[in-house]
Amino acid sequence: MQRAEFGRIANQLKIKIDATLDAMHATILEREKQKALELEALDVTLPGNRRRIGHRHPLTIVRKEIEDIFVSMGYSVEDGPEVENTYYNFEALNFPPGHPARDPRDTFYVGESVILRTHTSPVQVRTMEKTRPPVRIICPGRVFRRDAFDPTHSPMFHQVECLVVDEGITFADLKGTLERFHKEFFGEKTKTRLRPSFFPFVEPGAEVDVSCVFCDGAGCRICKGTGWIEVMGSGMVHPNLYGFVNYDADKLTGFAFGGGIERYAMLKYNINDLQLFFQNDMRFLEQF
Ligand code: PHE
Repeated sequence: MQRAEFGRIANQLKIKIDATLDAMHATILEREKQKALELEALDVTLPGNRRRIGHRHPLTIVRKEIEDIFVSMGYSVEDGPEVENTYYNFEALNFPPGHPARDPRDTFYVGESVILRTHTSPVQVRTMEKTRPPVRIICPGRVFRRDAFDPTHSPMFHQVECLVVDEGITFADLKGTLERFHKEFFGEKTKTRLRPSFFPFVEPGAEVDVSCVFCDGAGCRICKGTGWIEVMGSGMVHPNLYGFVNYDADKLTGFAFGGGIERYAMLKYNINDLQLFFQNDMRFLEQF
């Protein structure tokens, strides 16, 4: 009898202990769950992390715009190497052996006859070498010169080159093309003027001016009172070039011009320091 009674009480005790342990276990689990929920709580009303989305660099915008104008006139866009042979950069462009532009103080030499191209004109030769006339191309790209940084100079900048070769191309075609391009780019009231100049690979050669985009040619501080701003070099393709590329110099004539893309961007957006293009300060870049 005593034994049965003891067994009953022990059993009741065991049930109580089990129940208490179960309850404690449940409380702990619940507490853990609450803690986890608090920790992982997501406030969907908080503002998100805004991603900074980039956009086109002003030089890219201007290059695209120039390309579009020429493509709409039937030109194709060519490309050429930035590391170039002196043959294409100088020899085949009719530069005499001792020409000052070849000086290592002006040009970056990579090897004895390998340089960083100093202009986009070598693409003229490369294009004629690989295609038969008629030729109608533009070539935008980077060029390199040993210039120190200042508001109008940089050791690396961009140019766009144009080359047209066919039978019967005249100086009037050069002038007309430049006029059309500048009206498209700067606006219909823009005038274009040519002044005699010299480049070894053209004859005759001419410096290209546009009527000042700031004062419409009246004369201001930026055009130094002249009403004109120089933008490019140009001319009729020198007949000697045709000899280098097996073109018939008796039948063909052509024109070429080339100028700095930074310059066009500076005039279009009224930017007075070339270095701004290469510092990549978002406060500057986001304005375009
Ligand atoms: N390549 C010349 C320069 O860099 C510009 C130019 C291009 C001149 C085509 C005439 C014809 O100064």
